[in-house]
Amino acid sequence: MAFPTHRPRRLREQPTVRKMVQETRLTKANLIFPLFVDENLCEPAPISAMPGQCRWPISHIPKPVEAAKEKGIQAFLLFGVPKTKDSVGSSARSENGVVPTVLRSLNKEFPGTLFISDICLCAYTDHGHCGMLDEKGSILNDKSLPLLTEMAVQHARAGSGMIAPSDMMDGRIQSIRTGLDQAGFSKIPIMAYSAKYASSFYGPFREAADSSPQSGDRKGYQMAPANRREALYEMELDWQEGADILMVKPAMPYLDIIREARNTFSCPIAAYQVSGEFSMIKAAAAKGWMDEKSAILESLTSIHRAGADLIISYFSPEVTEWLND
Ligand code: PBG
Repeated sequence: MAFPTHRPRRLREQPTVRKMVQETRLTKANLIFPLFVDENLCEPAPISAMPGQCRWPISHIPKPVEAAKEKGIQAFLLFGVPKTKDSVGSSARSENGVVPTVLRSLNKEFPGTLFISDICLCAYTDHGHCGMLDEKGSILNDKSLPLLTEMAVQHARAGSGMIAPSDMMDGRIQSIRTGLDQAGFSKIPIMAYSAKYASSFYGPFREAADSSPQSGDRKGYQMAPANRREALYEMELDWQEGADILMVKPAMPYLDIIREARNTFSCPIAAYQVSGEFSMIKAAAAKGWMDEKSAILESLTSIHRAGADLIISYFSPEVTEWLND
């Protein structure tokens, strides 16, 4: 009794019906917009591999925030590029570091807006790795934890509304949760980059954040793209250590992981549509090989459909504007 009784196309024929039965809907409340603040700049510096995105000087940062807010963005993820780098990323823990400085001024200028802090050492170390290194160049996991924790506490003091650790050290969520609680920030949530893969799709970001490893790669701490069970293991650990939101990153090549996370955990799941995903769509659209607007909407709707409650995307402001239409 399938065909001709059953005709799925009946619900696709009329635009109104099509909209009515749409299963997944993006809203502006789902979207987070990343911004790069560079302490070395006096003028905005366009990021060549990410058309339309800039590194912003501290004094100019209200401009992109205001523009994105006008389009409906309520949440921002801040990345800092510091003036000074050393082997232990000291500038990441300074009260007057680049991100604490902008947090104080942005909170004053835009009350009620959520500013999320990325917590990682890679942009602050001269070697470009996400943790401290020993003399042979291998990561000192446990010694990196207090450094990351102090960074998180400094950001919370400066007014960060959410802490997002992206370093992939073992035990960092527990260490940061304890540190925040002891400093009086038990109400500040942690969004953990839990299933963070060692991905080629971060290429353009490393130009943006000036955070490429000077030697080696991140395969010793970020996850292998071939692994799915391990992602659930990482997420389980972060959940037990006190994460409030679990993230999968990148997004589109890892939709299966997002779905698995959504089916396994009851907490909100986030996904990061990373720089390379952004650049791919931009580059193909610039060549006339894809329609930019529909490719962007399809990519974000698919990430949401896969199970991501929150999506971090460089497209967020344009998308919120389209959602208003
Ligand atoms: C820092 C960090 C990275 C990204 C977010 N936080 C890069 C990396 O791990 O090399 C990637 C974001 C993007 O590509 O858009 N560790």
